[in-house]
Amino acid sequence: MFKILKRKDLADTIKLFEIEAPLVAKKAKPGQFVILRIKEGGERIPLTIADYDGEKGSVTVIFQEVGKTTKDLGKLNEGDFISDFIGPLGTPVEFPHHKRVLAIGGGVGVAPLYPKVKMLHNQGAEVISIIGAKTADMLILEEEMKAVSDQLFICTDDGTKGHHGFVTDVLKDILSKDTEFDEVIAIGPPIMMKIVANITRPYKIPTMVSLNPIMIDGTGMCGGCRVTVGGETKFACVDGPAFDGHLVDFDELMRRQTMYKSEEQKSLALAEERGEHKCRLD
Ligand SMILES: Cc1cc2nc3c(=O)[nH]c(=O)nc-3n(C[C@H](O)[C@H](O)[C@H](O)COP(=O)(O)OP(=O)(O)OC[C@H]3O[C@@H](n4cnc5c(N)ncnc54)[C@H](O)[C@@H]3O)c2cc1C
Ligand code: FES
Repeated sequence: MFKILKRKDLADTIKLFEIEAPLVAKKAKPGQFVILRIKEGGERIPLTIADYDGEKGSVTVIFQEVGKTTKDLGKLNEGDFISDFIGPLGTPVEFPHHKRVLAIGGGVGVAPLYPKVKMLHNQGAEVISIIGAKTADMLILEEEMKAVSDQLFICTDDGTKGHHGFVTDVLKDILSKDTEFDEVIAIGPPIMMKIVANITRPYKIPTMVSLNPIMIDGTGMCGGCRVTVGGETKFACVDGPAFDGHLVDFDELMRRQTMYKSEEQKSLALAEERGEHKCRLD
């Protein structure tokens, strides 16, 4: 059992949990993720390791409530336990020689971006970051990203904070004046990562993205997370989740992500129905 040491509500539907998991914390590296189950027999959900503290033995995850399991997770509090917390999984990312990097995070994608930017900052690289969300109150980790970035640009779709528009508008603007970057790192919704890759391709700037296909076992056994990269089939759980954005087939990724949509909607509707029933009895 894994204890929730800290809970912080970053936005209405976005929660941060610091979880006691000393063995995972000891081995974790930026770019890796965990698969957790709230209770035995429950759904397995992959979440990126947003931060870790080897000395304290804790791992931080940040998740958005999108369906039944993430909504159930969001109901837990400090002191509660979750039954399984497996990791670290996936291939860590390293940038040993990078001097200048442009980092872009959209929505909850800022969570997996943060440990990479923090690592680059600690190595002495210059990092320019662009983070965005639909509205100001959906924006996460602004202070944390500011602390590890040399410059931070904020964007909101509705203009409630920073640039009124998409992170890709600011990216275009920066690249029209300055293209001297060792790498662009983009993490967010697949459509955002696809557009970033299309923008950086003509400049030939290496562009790393982090993919979130449906995962089941997370160990390369089931094939559920397969993605096409450079015409080859890769398993995001073991070969990734970070890949060269210029080679990813994003259209296929987006199609596969919606494969179980009707089952997911049914599961959530059933849970909500049960919730209303319980509520009336109460
Ligand atoms: C490597 C990786 C890292 C991730 N990191 C984060 C993170 O740090 N924060 C965060 O909020 N989300 C993250 N996700 C997405 C997260 O796993 C899903 O939002 C979650 O599994 C949804 O479960 P649900 O039951 O609440 O929703 P459901 O209603 O079951 O699904 C809603 C949507 O979530 C996605 N999803 C559902 N099941 C899975 C699954 N088993 N694997 C992957 N995606 C699924 C699908 O796109 C689906 O349409 C990550 C996914 C992957 C693969
Ligand atoms: S999740 Fe099963 S192979 Fe990757």
